[in-house]
Amino acid sequence: MCGIIGYVGFRNAREILLEGLKRLDYRGYDSAGIGLISDKLIVYKEVGEIEKLEKQVPAINTTAGIGHTRWATHGGVTKANAHPHTDCKKKIAVVHNGIIENFKELREELINRGHKFTSDTDTEVVAHLVEEAYDGCLEKAVSSAIKKLKGSYALAFVSKDEPDKIVAARKESPLVIGVGDNEYFVASDIPAFLKYTNRVIYIEDGEKCILSRKGVKIFDENDKEIEKDINVVDWSIEEAEKAGFSHYMLKEIYEQPRSIADSFRGRIYEKEPHVTLNVDVEVPESITIVACGTSFYAGLAGKYMFEEIADIPTKTELSSEYRYLGRKDETGLIIAISQSGETADTLAAVRGAKKYGCKVLAITNVVGSSLTRIADYTILTRCGPEIGVAATKTFTAQLLMLLMLALDMGLKKGTIEDARVEEYITHIKKLPSYIQYVLNRNEEIKRIAEEIKDKETVFFIGRGINYPLALEGALKLKEISYIHAEGFAAGELKHGPFALLTEETPVVAVVARDKTYEKMLANIREVKARNSPVVAIADEKDMDVESYVDEVIRYPVTPPVISCIPIAVVLQLLAYHAANLRGCPIDKPRNLAKSVTVE
Ligand code: G6P
Repeated sequence: MCGIIGYVGFRNAREILLEGLKRLDYRGYDSAGIGLISDKLIVYKEVGEIEKLEKQVPAINTTAGIGHTRWATHGGVTKANAHPHTDCKKKIAVVHNGIIENFKELREELINRGHKFTSDTDTEVVAHLVEEAYDGCLEKAVSSAIKKLKGSYALAFVSKDEPDKIVAARKESPLVIGVGDNEYFVASDIPAFLKYTNRVIYIEDGEKCILSRKGVKIFDENDKEIEKDINVVDWSIEEAEKAGFSHYMLKEIYEQPRSIADSFRGRIYEKEPHVTLNVDVEVPESITIVACGTSFYAGLAGKYMFEEIADIPTKTELSSEYRYLGRKDETGLIIAISQSGETADTLAAVRGAKKYGCKVLAITNVVGSSLTRIADYTILTRCGPEIGVAATKTFTAQLLMLLMLALDMGLKKGTIEDARVEEYITHIKKLPSYIQYVLNRNEEIKRIAEEIKDKETVFFIGRGINYPLALEGALKLKEISYIHAEGFAAGELKHGPFALLTEETPVVAVVARDKTYEKMLANIREVKARNSPVVAIADEKDMDVESYVDEVIRYPVTPPVISCIPIAVVLQLLAYHAANLRGCPIDKPRNLAKSVTVE
Protein backbone atom coordinates (compact mmCIF):
# COMPACT_ATOMS: atom_id res chain seq x y z
CA MET A 1 0.00 0.00 0.00
CA CYS A 2 1.67 3.19 -1.16
CA GLY A 3 0.38 6.76 -1.29
CA ILE A 4 0.32 9.01 -4.35
CA ILE A 5 -0.36 12.72 -4.77
CA GLY A 6 -0.44 15.20 -7.65
CA TYR A 7 -0.95 18.98 -7.65
CA VAL A 8 -1.51 21.61 -10.30
CA GLY A 9 -2.42 25.17 -9.35
CA PHE A 10 -0.78 28.38 -8.25
CA ARG A 11 0.89 27.46 -4.96
CA ASN A 12 4.39 26.08 -4.44
CA ALA A 13 4.07 22.45 -5.49
CA ARG A 14 7.12 21.39 -3.45
CA GLU A 15 5.36 22.41 -0.22
CA ILE A 16 1.99 20.92 -1.16
CA LEU A 17 3.45 17.59 -2.23
CA LEU A 18 5.72 17.14 0.79
CA GLU A 19 2.93 18.12 3.16
CA GLY A 20 0.52 15.74 1.39
CA LEU A 21 3.01 12.89 1.56
CA LYS A 22 3.38 13.37 5.32
CA ARG A 23 -0.40 13.06 5.58
CA LEU A 24 -0.25 9.85 3.56
CA ASP A 25 2.62 8.24 5.39
CA TYR A 26 0.22 5.93 7.24
CA ARG A 27 -0.03 4.17 3.86
CA GLY A 28 3.68 3.30 3.90
CA TYR A 29 6.93 5.09 4.51
CA ASP A 30 10.01 3.14 3.46
CA SER A 31 11.00 5.73 0.85
CA ALA A 32 9.49 8.75 -0.87
CA GLY A 33 9.94 10.96 -3.89
CA ILE A 34 8.54 13.89 -5.83
CA GLY A 35 8.65 14.99 -9.45
CA LEU A 36 8.34 18.74 -10.04
CA ILE A 37 7.48 20.07 -13.44
CA SER A 38 8.03 23.44 -15.14
CA ASP A 39 10.15 23.74 -18.25
CA LYS A 40 12.05 20.73 -16.88
CA LEU A 41 11.15 17.60 -14.99
CA ILE A 42 13.08 17.36 -11.73
CA VAL A 43 12.86 14.20 -9.64
CA TYR A 44 14.01 13.81 -6.04
CA LYS A 45 13.90 10.54 -4.11
CA GLU A 46 15.09 9.41 -0.71
CA VAL A 47 15.04 6.25 1.39
CA GLY A 48 13.49 6.67 4.84
CA GLU A 49 11.03 9.17 6.20
CA ILE A 50 9.59 12.09 4.26
CA GLU A 51 11.56 14.54 6.39
CA LYS A 52 14.74 13.12 4.85
CA LEU A 53 13.39 13.83 1.38
CA GLU A 54 12.33 17.32 2.47
CA LYS A 55 15.90 18.17 3.50
CA GLN A 56 17.15 17.12 0.09
CA VAL A 57 14.69 19.03 -2.13
CA PRO A 58 15.86 22.62 -2.73
CA ALA A 59 13.39 25.50 -2.54
CA ILE A 60 12.21 25.31 -6.15
CA ASN A 61 9.10 27.25 -7.03
CA THR A 62 7.06 25.22 -9.50
CA THR A 63 3.29 24.95 -9.39
CA ALA A 64 2.76 21.37 -10.56
CA GLY A 65 4.10 17.95 -9.69
CA ILE A 66 3.53 14.45 -8.38
CA GLY A 67 4.70 12.60 -5.26
CA HIS A 68 4.81 9.17 -3.72
CA THR A 69 5.36 7.46 -0.40
CA ARG A 70 6.32 3.81 -0.81
CA TRP A 71 5.58 0.55 0.96
CA ALA A 72 7.73 -1.86 -1.01
CA THR A 73 6.18 -4.87 -2.74
CA HIS A 74 8.41 -5.36 -5.79
CA GLY A 75 12.07 -4.60 -5.27
CA GLY A 76 13.90 -3.69 -2.07
CA VAL A 77 13.93 -0.42 -0.22
CA THR A 78 16.41 1.58 -2.30
CA LYS A 79 16.59 5.04 -3.77
CA ALA A 80 16.41 3.56 -7.28
CA ASN A 81 13.17 1.78 -6.44
CA ALA A 82 11.54 4.87 -4.92
CA HIS A 83 8.99 6.66 -7.15
CA PRO A 84 8.52 8.69 -9.36
CA HIS A 85 9.82 6.46 -12.15
CA THR A 86 10.79 7.96 -15.47
CA ASP A 87 11.10 6.86 -19.09
CA CYS A 88 14.41 6.52 -20.97
CA LYS A 89 14.42 10.19 -22.01
CA LYS A 90 13.47 11.39 -18.51
CA LYS A 91 10.54 13.31 -19.96
CA ILE A 92 7.67 11.39 -18.39
CA ALA A 93 7.32 10.58 -14.68
CA VAL A 94 4.84 8.28 -12.97
CA VAL A 95 3.80 7.45 -9.40
CA HIS A 96 1.88 4.27 -8.68
CA ASN A 97 -0.03 2.55 -5.92
CA GLY A 98 -0.93 -1.07 -6.68
CA ILE A 99 0.63 -4.13 -8.25
CA ILE A 100 1.28 -4.69 -11.96
CA GLU A 101 0.89 -8.45 -12.27
CA ASN A 102 2.32 -8.85 -15.78
CA PHE A 103 5.31 -6.56 -15.28
CA LYS A 104 7.88 -9.30 -15.91
CA GLU A 105 6.62 -10.02 -19.44
CA LEU A 106 6.20 -6.30 -20.18
CA ARG A 107 9.68 -5.52 -18.89
CA GLU A 108 11.24 -8.22 -21.09
CA GLU A 109 9.40 -6.94 -24.16
CA LEU A 110 10.43 -3.36 -23.42
CA ILE A 111 14.07 -4.33 -22.86
CA ASN A 112 14.01 -6.21 -26.18
CA ARG A 113 12.80 -3.03 -27.80
CA GLY A 114 15.78 -1.13 -26.37
CA HIS A 115 14.37 0.44 -23.18
CA LYS A 116 16.78 0.94 -20.28
CA PHE A 117 15.50 0.16 -16.79
CA THR A 118 16.92 1.74 -13.67
CA SER A 119 14.86 0.02 -10.93
CA ASP A 120 13.50 -3.42 -9.95
CA THR A 121 9.93 -2.18 -9.57
CA ASP A 122 6.81 -3.28 -11.39
CA THR A 123 5.94 0.42 -11.88
CA GLU A 124 8.81 1.38 -14.15
CA VAL A 125 7.28 -0.57 -17.07
CA VAL A 126 4.41 1.92 -17.06
CA ALA A 127 6.73 4.89 -17.68
CA HIS A 128 8.30 3.10 -20.64
CA LEU A 129 4.95 2.02 -22.07
CA VAL A 130 3.73 5.63 -21.97
CA GLU A 131 7.00 6.75 -23.58
CA GLU A 132 6.38 4.37 -26.50
CA ALA A 133 2.82 5.61 -27.01
CA TYR A 134 3.60 9.31 -26.53
CA ASP A 135 3.10 11.61 -29.50
CA GLY A 136 2.58 14.89 -27.67
CA CYS A 137 -0.67 13.99 -25.88
CA LEU A 138 -0.17 12.49 -22.42
CA GLU A 139 -3.75 11.27 -21.89
CA LYS A 140 -3.73 9.40 -25.20
CA ALA A 141 -0.44 7.73 -24.34
CA VAL A 142 -1.68 6.79 -20.84
CA SER A 143 -4.88 5.38 -22.28
CA SER A 144 -2.97 3.16 -24.65
CA ALA A 145 -0.39 2.08 -22.03
CA ILE A 146 -2.84 1.06 -19.33
CA LYS A 147 -4.66 -1.25 -21.74
CA LYS A 148 -1.57 -3.47 -21.54
CA LEU A 149 -1.54 -3.64 -17.74
CA LYS A 150 -2.90 -6.48 -15.63
CA GLY A 151 -3.27 -5.86 -11.93
CA SER A 152 -4.21 -2.93 -9.78
CA TYR A 153 -3.22 0.69 -10.03
CA ALA A 154 -3.75 4.28 -9.09
CA LEU A 155 -1.36 6.12 -11.36
CA ALA A 156 -0.46 9.78 -11.84
CA PHE A 157 1.72 11.05 -14.67
CA VAL A 158 3.41 14.26 -15.72
CA SER A 159 5.25 15.04 -18.94
CA LYS A 160 7.93 17.68 -19.47
CA ASP A 161 6.31 18.56 -22.80
CA GLU A 162 2.92 19.37 -21.19
CA PRO A 163 3.90 21.05 -17.92
CA ASP A 164 0.40 22.18 -16.96
CA LYS A 165 -1.13 18.76 -16.94
CA ILE A 166 -1.43 15.71 -14.69
CA VAL A 167 -3.07 12.56 -16.02
CA ALA A 168 -4.30 9.95 -13.54
CA ALA A 169 -5.99 6.56 -13.85
CA ARG A 170 -7.46 4.00 -11.51
CA LYS A 171 -8.15 0.27 -11.31
CA GLU A 172 -8.74 -1.37 -7.93
CA SER A 173 -6.58 1.11 -5.97
CA PRO A 174 -8.05 4.23 -4.39
CA LEU A 175 -7.92 7.57 -6.18
CA VAL A 176 -9.66 10.81 -5.34
CA ILE A 177 -9.57 14.33 -6.77
CA GLY A 178 -9.57 17.49 -4.68
CA VAL A 179 -11.29 20.43 -6.35
CA GLY A 180 -10.01 23.83 -5.27
CA ASP A 181 -10.30 27.28 -6.86
CA ASN A 182 -7.95 27.29 -9.83
CA GLU A 183 -6.05 24.41 -8.24
CA TYR A 184 -6.56 20.67 -8.33
CA PHE A 185 -5.23 17.73 -6.42
CA VAL A 186 -5.23 13.99 -7.05
CA ALA A 187 -4.32 11.54 -4.29
CA SER A 188 -4.78 8.08 -2.84
CA ASP A 189 -6.71 9.54 0.02
CA ILE A 190 -8.39 12.75 1.15
CA PRO A 191 -6.06 13.75 4.05
CA ALA A 192 -3.35 14.50 1.47
CA PHE A 193 -5.13 17.71 0.42
CA LEU A 194 -7.87 18.30 3.00
CA LYS A 195 -6.08 21.39 4.35
CA TYR A 196 -6.75 23.09 0.98
CA THR A 197 -10.12 21.78 -0.10
CA ASN A 198 -12.92 19.56 1.17
CA ARG A 199 -14.56 19.22 -2.25
CA VAL A 200 -13.78 15.80 -3.67
CA ILE A 201 -14.56 13.64 -6.68
CA TYR A 202 -14.19 9.89 -6.20
CA ILE A 203 -12.60 8.21 -9.22
CA GLU A 204 -13.91 4.71 -9.99
CA ASP A 205 -12.30 1.69 -11.62
CA GLY A 206 -11.58 2.20 -15.29
CA GLU A 207 -11.80 6.00 -15.08
CA LYS A 208 -9.06 8.42 -16.09
CA CYS A 209 -8.74 12.13 -15.40
CA ILE A 210 -6.84 15.14 -16.64
CA LEU A 211 -6.03 17.91 -14.18
CA SER A 212 -4.92 21.35 -15.31
CA ARG A 213 -5.26 24.86 -13.91
CA LYS A 214 -8.43 25.21 -15.97
CA GLY A 215 -10.20 22.30 -14.35
CA VAL A 216 -10.65 18.55 -14.24
CA LYS A 217 -11.91 16.32 -17.03
CA ILE A 218 -12.93 12.75 -16.31
CA PHE A 219 -13.23 9.93 -18.83
CA ASP A 220 -14.71 6.45 -18.64
CA GLU A 221 -12.95 3.30 -19.82
CA ASN A 222 -14.01 3.98 -23.42
CA ASP A 223 -12.38 7.42 -23.21
CA LYS A 224 -15.77 9.14 -23.24
CA GLU A 225 -15.89 12.28 -21.11
CA ILE A 226 -18.25 11.97 -18.13
CA GLU A 227 -19.69 14.30 -15.51
CA LYS A 228 -19.20 13.37 -11.86
CA ASP A 229 -20.59 14.79 -8.63
CA ILE A 230 -18.45 16.85 -6.32
CA ASN A 231 -18.86 15.66 -2.72
CA VAL A 232 -18.23 17.86 0.28
CA VAL A 233 -16.55 16.06 3.20
CA ASP A 234 -16.86 17.53 6.64
CA TRP A 235 -14.14 15.41 8.27
CA SER A 236 -11.26 16.71 10.30
CA ILE A 237 -7.84 15.60 9.05
CA GLU A 238 -7.70 13.04 11.85
CA GLU A 239 -11.06 11.60 10.85
CA ALA A 240 -10.04 11.60 7.22
CA GLU A 241 -6.94 9.52 7.99
CA LYS A 242 -9.30 6.87 9.28
CA ALA A 243 -11.44 7.28 6.14
CA GLY A 244 -14.38 8.27 8.33
CA PHE A 245 -14.15 5.12 10.52
CA SER A 246 -14.13 5.67 14.25
CA HIS A 247 -10.93 3.65 14.71
CA TYR A 248 -8.02 2.43 12.64
CA MET A 249 -8.92 -1.10 13.69
CA LEU A 250 -12.37 -0.82 12.09
CA LYS A 251 -10.88 0.75 8.98
CA GLU A 252 -8.38 -2.10 8.75
CA ILE A 253 -11.13 -4.70 9.22
CA TYR A 254 -13.03 -3.10 6.34
CA GLU A 255 -9.91 -2.95 4.19
CA GLN A 256 -9.69 -6.72 4.07
CA PRO A 257 -11.49 -7.37 0.76
CA ARG A 258 -8.77 -5.23 -0.82
CA SER A 259 -5.82 -6.31 1.33
CA ILE A 260 -6.53 -9.99 0.77
CA ALA A 261 -6.77 -9.37 -3.00
CA ASP A 262 -3.38 -7.62 -2.88
CA SER A 263 -1.96 -10.60 -1.01
CA PHE A 264 -2.90 -13.10 -3.72
CA ARG A 265 -2.62 -10.81 -6.74
CA GLY A 266 -0.23 -12.16 -9.37
CA ARG A 267 0.55 -15.20 -7.23
CA ILE A 268 -2.21 -17.66 -8.15
CA TYR A 269 -3.36 -19.22 -11.43
CA GLU A 270 -6.16 -21.58 -12.44
CA LYS A 271 -3.59 -23.64 -14.37
CA GLU A 272 -0.12 -24.85 -13.44
CA PRO A 273 2.02 -23.72 -11.65
CA HIS A 274 -1.10 -22.56 -9.69
CA VAL A 275 0.93 -20.76 -7.00
CA THR A 276 4.07 -18.62 -7.39
CA LEU A 277 5.35 -17.15 -4.17
CA ASN A 278 8.80 -16.46 -5.67
CA VAL A 279 10.63 -18.31 -2.93
CA ASP A 280 12.87 -21.08 -4.08
CA VAL A 281 12.38 -23.18 -0.99
CA GLU A 282 12.61 -26.98 -1.23
CA VAL A 283 9.77 -29.06 0.17
CA PRO A 284 11.03 -29.88 3.68
CA GLU A 285 10.82 -33.13 5.69
CA SER A 286 9.19 -31.21 8.53
CA ILE A 287 8.23 -27.68 9.47
CA THR A 288 8.50 -25.73 12.71
CA ILE A 289 6.55 -22.49 12.82
CA VAL A 290 7.65 -19.84 15.32
CA ALA A 291 5.61 -16.73 16.11
CA CYS A 292 4.00 -14.64 18.88
CA GLY A 293 0.53 -13.34 19.62
CA THR A 294 -1.88 -13.29 16.70
CA SER A 295 0.85 -14.48 14.34
CA PHE A 296 1.22 -17.56 16.55
CA TYR A 297 -2.44 -18.40 16.06
CA ALA A 298 -2.00 -18.05 12.30
CA GLY A 299 0.89 -20.47 12.72
CA LEU A 300 -1.31 -22.94 14.64
CA ALA A 301 -3.78 -22.86 11.74
CA GLY A 302 -0.80 -23.35 9.40
CA LYS A 303 -0.04 -26.67 11.09
CA TYR A 304 -3.43 -28.00 9.98
CA MET A 305 -2.80 -26.74 6.44
CA PHE A 306 0.68 -28.22 5.99
CA GLU A 307 -0.27 -31.56 7.52
CA GLU A 308 -3.56 -31.93 5.65
CA ILE A 309 -2.61 -30.52 2.25
CA ALA A 310 1.10 -31.32 1.96
CA ASP A 311 1.45 -34.16 4.48
CA ILE A 312 4.39 -32.42 6.17
CA PRO A 313 4.68 -32.95 9.95
CA THR A 314 4.45 -29.48 11.46
CA LYS A 315 4.93 -28.05 14.94
CA THR A 316 3.95 -24.52 15.93
CA GLU A 317 5.94 -23.05 18.80
CA LEU A 318 5.77 -19.78 20.65
CA SER A 319 8.93 -17.89 19.77
CA SER A 320 9.54 -17.10 23.43
CA GLU A 321 9.53 -20.81 24.33
CA TYR A 322 11.27 -22.22 21.29
CA ARG A 323 14.75 -21.63 22.61
CA TYR A 324 14.02 -23.77 25.67
CA LEU A 325 12.94 -26.73 23.59
CA GLY A 326 15.60 -29.39 23.19
CA ARG A 327 15.83 -30.81 19.70
CA LYS A 328 16.17 -28.56 16.69
CA ASP A 329 15.77 -30.33 13.38
CA GLU A 330 18.22 -28.89 10.90
CA THR A 331 16.62 -30.79 7.99
CA GLY A 332 13.32 -29.11 8.69
CA LEU A 333 12.20 -25.68 7.60
CA ILE A 334 11.57 -22.92 10.13
CA ILE A 335 8.71 -20.60 9.20
CA ALA A 336 8.80 -17.38 11.22
CA ILE A 337 5.56 -15.39 11.10
CA SER A 338 5.63 -11.77 12.20
CA GLN A 339 3.52 -8.85 11.06
CA SER A 340 6.22 -6.34 12.00
CA GLY A 341 9.26 -8.49 11.37
CA GLU A 342 10.69 -6.89 14.51
CA THR A 343 9.31 -8.94 17.41
CA ALA A 344 12.33 -9.63 19.60
CA ASP A 345 11.25 -13.14 20.69
CA THR A 346 10.73 -14.22 17.08
CA LEU A 347 14.06 -12.77 15.99
CA ALA A 348 15.76 -14.61 18.87
CA ALA A 349 14.04 -17.88 17.92
CA VAL A 350 15.16 -17.49 14.32
CA ARG A 351 18.75 -16.69 15.28
CA GLY A 352 18.72 -19.78 17.51
CA ALA A 353 17.41 -21.97 14.69
CA LYS A 354 20.02 -20.65 12.28
CA LYS A 355 22.78 -21.72 14.69
CA TYR A 356 21.57 -25.28 14.18
CA GLY A 357 21.80 -24.84 10.41
CA CYS A 358 18.04 -24.56 9.80
CA LYS A 359 16.73 -22.67 6.77
CA VAL A 360 14.29 -19.91 7.69
CA LEU A 361 11.33 -18.61 5.71
CA ALA A 362 9.79 -15.35 6.94
CA ILE A 363 6.16 -14.38 6.46
CA THR A 364 5.92 -10.70 7.24
CA ASN A 365 4.25 -7.46 6.26
CA VAL A 366 7.34 -5.29 6.41
CA VAL A 367 9.93 -5.42 3.67
CA GLY A 368 13.45 -4.75 4.92
CA SER A 369 12.47 -5.57 8.53
CA SER A 370 15.05 -7.32 10.74
CA LEU A 371 13.35 -10.66 10.15
CA THR A 372 13.68 -10.39 6.37
CA ARG A 373 17.38 -9.65 6.79
CA ILE A 374 18.02 -12.78 8.86
CA ALA A 375 15.71 -15.14 6.93
CA ASP A 376 16.76 -17.16 3.89
CA TYR A 377 13.42 -16.59 2.14
CA THR A 378 10.66 -14.03 2.59
CA ILE A 379 6.99 -13.97 1.67
CA LEU A 380 5.40 -10.55 2.04
CA THR A 381 1.77 -10.33 3.10
CA ARG A 382 1.38 -7.01 1.23
CA CYS A 383 -1.30 -5.50 3.50
CA GLY A 384 0.10 -2.00 3.81
CA PRO A 385 0.81 -0.60 7.27
CA GLU A 386 -1.38 -1.77 10.10
CA ILE A 387 -1.87 0.93 12.71
CA GLY A 388 -4.37 -0.55 15.18
CA VAL A 389 -2.43 -2.48 17.84
CA ALA A 390 -4.74 -5.48 17.42
CA ALA A 391 -3.71 -7.32 14.26
CA THR A 392 -6.57 -7.78 11.76
CA LYS A 393 -5.80 -7.58 8.06
CA THR A 394 -2.30 -8.99 8.60
CA PHE A 395 -3.76 -12.07 10.34
CA THR A 396 -6.04 -12.95 7.42
CA ALA A 397 -3.13 -12.40 5.01
CA GLN A 398 -0.87 -14.65 7.09
CA LEU A 399 -3.52 -17.40 6.94
CA LEU A 400 -3.71 -17.02 3.17
CA MET A 401 0.07 -17.09 2.69
CA LEU A 402 0.30 -20.29 4.76
CA LEU A 403 -2.48 -21.86 2.70
CA MET A 404 -0.82 -20.89 -0.58
CA LEU A 405 2.52 -22.24 0.63
CA ALA A 406 0.87 -25.50 1.71
CA LEU A 407 -0.79 -25.79 -1.72
CA ASP A 408 2.52 -25.13 -3.45
CA MET A 409 4.33 -27.74 -1.35
CA GLY A 410 1.47 -30.22 -1.70
CA LEU A 411 1.61 -29.88 -5.48
CA LYS A 412 5.38 -30.32 -5.56
CA LYS A 413 5.13 -33.34 -3.27
CA GLY A 414 2.15 -34.82 -5.10
CA THR A 415 -0.07 -34.99 -2.02
CA ILE A 416 -2.87 -32.96 -3.55
CA GLU A 417 -4.54 -33.43 -6.91
CA ASP A 418 -4.59 -30.74 -9.53
CA ALA A 419 -8.38 -30.55 -9.48
CA ARG A 420 -8.40 -29.91 -5.71
CA VAL A 421 -5.86 -27.13 -6.11
CA GLU A 422 -7.95 -25.59 -8.88
CA GLU A 423 -10.92 -25.65 -6.53
CA TYR A 424 -8.88 -23.89 -3.84
CA ILE A 425 -7.68 -21.26 -6.33
CA THR A 426 -11.27 -20.56 -7.39
CA HIS A 427 -12.23 -19.99 -3.76
CA ILE A 428 -9.14 -17.89 -2.98
CA LYS A 429 -10.14 -15.55 -5.81
CA LYS A 430 -13.56 -15.20 -4.21
CA LEU A 431 -12.16 -14.31 -0.78
CA PRO A 432 -12.83 -10.56 -1.19
CA SER A 433 -16.53 -11.32 -1.70
CA TYR A 434 -16.57 -13.83 1.17
CA ILE A 435 -15.13 -11.16 3.47
CA GLN A 436 -17.63 -8.62 2.15
CA TYR A 437 -20.43 -11.06 3.02
CA VAL A 438 -19.32 -10.89 6.67
CA LEU A 439 -18.85 -7.10 6.61
CA ASN A 440 -22.44 -6.82 5.37
CA ARG A 441 -23.51 -8.48 8.63
CA ASN A 442 -21.85 -5.79 10.73
CA GLU A 443 -25.08 -4.57 12.36
CA GLU A 444 -26.09 -8.08 13.34
CA ILE A 445 -22.66 -8.74 14.87
CA LYS A 446 -22.90 -5.43 16.74
CA ARG A 447 -26.25 -6.50 18.19
CA ILE A 448 -24.67 -9.73 19.47
CA ALA A 449 -21.71 -7.77 20.85
CA GLU A 450 -24.28 -5.84 22.96
CA GLU A 451 -25.17 -9.13 24.61
CA ILE A 452 -21.61 -9.97 25.64
CA LYS A 453 -20.23 -6.53 26.40
CA ASP A 454 -21.06 -6.60 30.11
CA LYS A 455 -20.09 -10.22 30.79
CA GLU A 456 -17.12 -11.01 32.95
CA THR A 457 -15.93 -13.96 30.95
CA VAL A 458 -16.49 -15.18 27.41
CA PHE A 459 -15.37 -18.57 26.09
CA PHE A 460 -14.50 -19.30 22.47
CA ILE A 461 -14.47 -22.89 21.27
CA GLY A 462 -13.54 -24.58 18.01
CA ARG A 463 -12.25 -27.86 16.64
CA GLY A 464 -9.68 -28.70 13.98
CA ILE A 465 -8.46 -25.64 12.14
CA ASN A 466 -11.08 -23.58 13.94
CA TYR A 467 -9.45 -24.22 17.30
CA PRO A 468 -6.72 -21.61 16.57
CA LEU A 469 -9.50 -19.32 15.35
CA ALA A 470 -11.21 -19.69 18.74
CA LEU A 471 -7.91 -18.78 20.42
CA GLU A 472 -7.57 -15.71 18.19
CA GLY A 473 -11.20 -14.70 18.83
CA ALA A 474 -10.52 -14.77 22.58
CA LEU A 475 -7.26 -12.85 22.22
CA LYS A 476 -8.95 -10.15 20.12
CA LEU A 477 -11.73 -9.74 22.67
CA LYS A 478 -9.48 -9.62 25.73
CA GLU A 479 -6.86 -7.29 24.26
CA ILE A 480 -9.21 -4.54 23.16
CA SER A 481 -12.32 -4.87 25.40
CA TYR A 482 -10.58 -6.06 28.61
CA ILE A 483 -13.27 -8.73 29.02
CA HIS A 484 -11.73 -11.94 30.30
CA ALA A 485 -11.84 -14.34 27.35
CA GLU A 486 -10.48 -17.85 26.86
CA GLY A 487 -10.22 -19.99 23.77
CA PHE A 488 -10.50 -23.76 24.02
CA ALA A 489 -10.43 -26.79 21.79
CA ALA A 490 -14.11 -27.74 22.15
CA GLY A 491 -13.20 -31.28 23.22
CA GLU A 492 -11.21 -29.94 26.17
CA LEU A 493 -14.09 -28.20 27.95
CA LYS A 494 -14.93 -31.34 29.88
CA HIS A 495 -11.37 -31.52 31.25
CA GLY A 496 -11.66 -28.46 33.43
CA PRO A 497 -13.22 -25.34 31.90
CA PHE A 498 -16.74 -26.73 32.41
CA ALA A 499 -16.27 -25.93 36.09
CA LEU A 500 -16.34 -22.24 35.19
CA LEU A 501 -19.45 -22.29 33.00
CA THR A 502 -22.53 -20.54 34.31
CA GLU A 503 -25.53 -18.96 32.67
CA GLU A 504 -23.51 -15.72 32.72
CA THR A 505 -20.72 -17.15 30.56
CA PRO A 506 -21.40 -16.75 26.84
CA VAL A 507 -19.71 -19.33 24.64
CA VAL A 508 -18.83 -18.41 21.07
CA ALA A 509 -18.65 -21.64 19.06
CA VAL A 510 -16.94 -21.71 15.66
CA VAL A 511 -18.78 -24.41 13.73
CA ALA A 512 -17.69 -25.89 10.40
CA ARG A 513 -19.48 -28.57 8.43
CA ASP A 514 -16.32 -30.67 8.13
CA LYS A 515 -15.20 -33.84 9.91
CA THR A 516 -15.51 -32.06 13.28
CA TYR A 517 -19.17 -31.11 12.82
CA GLU A 518 -21.01 -33.83 14.76
CA LYS A 519 -18.58 -33.65 17.66
CA MET A 520 -18.89 -29.88 17.75
CA LEU A 521 -22.68 -30.07 17.96
CA ALA A 522 -22.30 -32.53 20.81
CA ASN A 523 -19.99 -30.08 22.62
CA ILE A 524 -22.50 -27.29 22.12
CA ARG A 525 -25.23 -29.48 23.62
CA GLU A 526 -22.98 -30.08 26.65
CA VAL A 527 -22.52 -26.33 27.05
CA LYS A 528 -26.27 -25.70 26.75
CA ALA A 529 -26.85 -28.31 29.45
CA ARG A 530 -24.99 -25.87 31.80
CA ASN A 531 -27.37 -23.10 30.66
CA SER A 532 -24.63 -20.98 29.12
CA PRO A 533 -25.74 -18.84 26.18
CA VAL A 534 -24.18 -19.99 22.91
CA VAL A 535 -23.40 -17.84 19.86
CA ALA A 536 -22.53 -20.04 16.89
CA ILE A 537 -20.45 -18.84 13.97
CA ALA A 538 -21.74 -21.14 11.24
CA ASP A 539 -22.00 -21.28 7.48
CA GLU A 540 -25.07 -19.87 5.77
CA LYS A 541 -26.48 -23.28 4.84
CA ASP A 542 -26.07 -24.91 8.24
CA MET A 543 -29.69 -24.98 9.42
CA ASP A 544 -29.27 -27.77 12.01
CA VAL A 545 -27.11 -25.64 14.26
CA GLU A 546 -29.96 -23.20 14.91
CA SER A 547 -31.88 -25.58 17.13
CA TYR A 548 -28.95 -25.89 19.55
CA VAL A 549 -27.84 -22.29 20.02
CA ASP A 550 -29.15 -18.85 20.98
CA GLU A 551 -27.66 -16.82 18.14
CA VAL A 552 -26.01 -17.61 14.82
CA ILE A 553 -23.61 -15.38 12.90
CA ARG A 554 -23.24 -16.58 9.33
CA TYR A 555 -20.27 -16.88 7.02
CA PRO A 556 -20.41 -18.06 3.38
CA VAL A 557 -20.10 -21.74 2.43
CA THR A 558 -16.50 -22.47 1.39
CA PRO A 559 -14.05 -25.35 1.86
CA PRO A 560 -13.13 -25.47 5.59
CA VAL A 561 -9.60 -24.11 5.29
CA ILE A 562 -10.74 -21.11 3.24
CA SER A 563 -13.53 -20.36 5.70
CA CYS A 564 -10.96 -19.48 8.40
CA ILE A 565 -10.59 -16.11 6.73
CA PRO A 566 -14.24 -14.91 6.79
CA ILE A 567 -14.56 -16.47 10.27
CA ALA A 568 -11.60 -14.36 11.44
CA VAL A 569 -13.45 -11.26 10.23
CA VAL A 570 -16.55 -12.21 12.28
CA LEU A 571 -14.37 -12.56 15.38
CA GLN A 572 -12.66 -9.22 14.71
CA LEU A 573 -15.99 -7.38 14.38
CA LEU A 574 -17.38 -9.04 17.50
CA ALA A 575 -14.37 -7.95 19.55
CA TYR A 576 -14.39 -4.49 18.00
CA HIS A 577 -18.03 -3.79 18.82
CA ALA A 578 -17.81 -5.19 22.34
CA ALA A 579 -14.81 -2.93 23.00
CA ASN A 580 -16.40 0.08 21.35
CA LEU A 581 -19.63 -0.32 23.32
CA ARG A 582 -17.51 -0.39 26.49
CA GLY A 583 -15.75 2.82 25.42
CA CYS A 584 -12.28 1.28 25.29
CA PRO A 585 -9.30 2.97 23.55
CA ILE A 586 -9.37 0.39 20.77
CA ASP A 587 -6.38 1.42 18.68
CA LYS A 588 -4.09 1.67 21.69
CA PRO A 589 -5.16 -0.81 24.36
CA ARG A 590 -3.64 -0.33 27.79
CA ASN A 591 -0.23 -1.95 28.40
CA LEU A 592 0.08 -3.23 24.82
CA ALA A 593 2.37 -2.28 21.96
CA LYS A 594 2.10 -2.92 18.25
CA SER A 595 5.61 -4.18 17.97
CA VAL A 596 7.31 -5.76 20.98
CA THR A 597 11.03 -5.33 20.60
CA VAL A 598 12.10 -6.64 24.01
CA GLU A 599 12.39 -10.32 24.92
C1 G6P B 1 2.17 -7.65 19.80
C2 G6P B 1 0.93 -7.15 19.09
C3 G6P B 1 0.11 -8.33 18.52
C4 G6P B 1 1.00 -9.18 17.64
C5 G6P B 1 2.26 -9.64 18.38
C6 G6P B 1 3.25 -10.30 17.44
O1 G6P B 1 1.80 -8.32 20.96
O2 G6P B 1 0.13 -6.40 19.97
O3 G6P B 1 -0.98 -7.84 17.76
O4 G6P B 1 0.27 -10.31 17.21
O5 G6P B 1 2.93 -8.51 18.95
O6 G6P B 1 3.71 -9.33 16.55
P1 G6P B 1 4.33 -9.66 15.16
O7 G6P B 1 4.69 -8.31 14.59
O8 G6P B 1 5.55 -10.50 15.39
O9 G6P B 1 3.32 -10.38 14.34
